[in-house]
Amino acid sequence: MSQDAASKPAIARKSAGLSGTVRIPGDKSISHRALILGGLASGKTRISGLLEGEDVLNTGKAMQAMGAVICKEGDAWTVSGTGNGALLAPEVPLDFGNSGTGARLIMGLAGVYDFDTVFTGDASLSRRPMGRVLDPLRRMGVQVKAVEGDRLPIMLRGPETPAPTRYTLPVASAQVKSALLLAGLNVPGATTVIEPAITRDHTEKMLAGFGAELSIKTDKDGTRTIQLQGRGKLTGQIVDVPGDPSSAAFPLVAALLVPGSDITISNVLMNQTRTGLILTLQEMGADIEIVDPRLAGGEDIADLRVRHSELTGVSVPTERAPSMIDEYPVLAVAAAFAKGRTVMNGLQELRVKESDRLATVVEGLKLNGVQCEEGNDWLSVTGRPDGKGLGNAAGEQVITHLDHRIAMSFLVMGLASEHPVGIDDGSVIATSFPQFMGLMESLGAKIEQA
Ligand code: S3P
Repeated sequence: MSQDAASKPAIARKSAGLSGTVRIPGDKSISHRALILGGLASGKTRISGLLEGEDVLNTGKAMQAMGAVICKEGDAWTVSGTGNGALLAPEVPLDFGNSGTGARLIMGLAGVYDFDTVFTGDASLSRRPMGRVLDPLRRMGVQVKAVEGDRLPIMLRGPETPAPTRYTLPVASAQVKSALLLAGLNVPGATTVIEPAITRDHTEKMLAGFGAELSIKTDKDGTRTIQLQGRGKLTGQIVDVPGDPSSAAFPLVAALLVPGSDITISNVLMNQTRTGLILTLQEMGADIEIVDPRLAGGEDIADLRVRHSELTGVSVPTERAPSMIDEYPVLAVAAAFAKGRTVMNGLQELRVKESDRLATVVEGLKLNGVQCEEGNDWLSVTGRPDGKGLGNAAGEQVITHLDHRIAMSFLVMGLASEHPVGIDDGSVIATSFPQFMGLMESLGAKIEQA
C-alpha cells in the first residue's frame, strides 16, 4: 500500500528492561457513552478522565451538532444536555472518522428521531458492516438510505413514533446492544435486548446511573435480558472515567516480553467484561499483580504491577472472546514469545474490526518471522521465547490498514525481537491512545517515528 502524506511510519527496537509507573488514559468505551448520555440528559454532566482520542472527540462533535454544549474546564469536561427526546436535527453530516463505536451508538440514538441524519467515516469505517445495527432499527420504523449495501455513508430517518422492539443479538456485540438501548430511549414503551453471552456492560450501568428505568435478568445459562422503558427522564451526572484496559494491554505485554522489566500501570478498569486478556496471560504464566483493587465511579479498578515473565502457550476458549475482543492482536504478539503453541478460538468478529484483524495480524507476524496459522475464526501462533530471528532485518514494514491496535501491537513486538519491527503508519494510534509513544518511551521503550 502506498503511503500518503499523513502516514507516520515508526520502528521499534530491542529495548533494555522497562521500568516506571504510568497512568493509562481514560477508557474509550466509557468515554463515548459519557459524552452521549451527558449530551442527552437534562442539566450538566461533569466528566473527569475523558479519553481525548480522535474517536471520542468525534462523538463529542456529533453530540454538539445535535444540540449538546460541551466544553473543557481545567482537566474536566462539562456537557449540558438537550434533555431526553429533544435532540436537534444536525445540519451537517456526522463524521465518525475511524470509530465503529461512535457511528453505531449514535445511529441508534439519533436514527429513531423524525429527522434526517447523515453518517460518514474514514476508509476503514466505510468498509465495516452496519447492517447489524440497521436491521433492528428498520424494525423500529427507521428508513435507511445507503449508496452501497449497508456501508457508510448512510442517511437515517426515524418515523413519527418508533415501534417498541424485542431483539436477540445475532452477534456478541456491545455496540449493537448499546445502539438499540440508546434508540429505546426515544421509543414509547419497552425496548428489550437479549444477549446470549455477556458483552461489555457500560451502557446498561451508565443508563441506570443517569436515571433510566432499566431491568436486567440473567438466566442460568448466562443469557441476559435487558429491558428499557423509553421516554423517561435522564439527569446529568458526575462521571469519573477509569483507565482503558485495552490501552493498558500494550505496556503490559511489553513489560512481560522485555527481560528485566518491572512496571506499574495505575488506575486500570477491571470490569469483568473487559479482563479476559489478564486472565489469559496469567494462565500463560504472566506475573501480573493486581494491587489495591477498589471501586471508582461504580466500576472496579486496580493498579497492575507487571514483571518480565516466561510465557507458555495456552488454548484460549471461544467463550472468552467478548471479554478480550480488542486484545487478540497484542495477545498474538505475546504468543510469539511464548514456549509452544497458543491457539485462539472464536475470532470471527476480528474480521470486521478497524481492519480484518485476523488477516492483518497473520501478515504482520509472518513478515516478522513468526510461525503461525490462520483459520476462518481461529489463529495459532508458535512462539520463540528468546525472540531470536524475530523482527525484520530488511526493514520491511507491517501494513497497519488504518488499525490503531495493529500499529501498537507490532511496535510492542519490536521491543523484544532480535531485529527491529517497523510499521507503515502510526498516525492512527491517535484515535484511541494519543499518548502511546511518549508513555512507552518514558518506560524505556525504543520506538522512533520516521
Ligand atoms: C465496543 C465494543 C466492541 C469493541 C469496540 C468497543 C464498545 O465492538 O471491539 O472497540 O464500546 O461498545 P463490538 O460491539 O463490535 O464487539
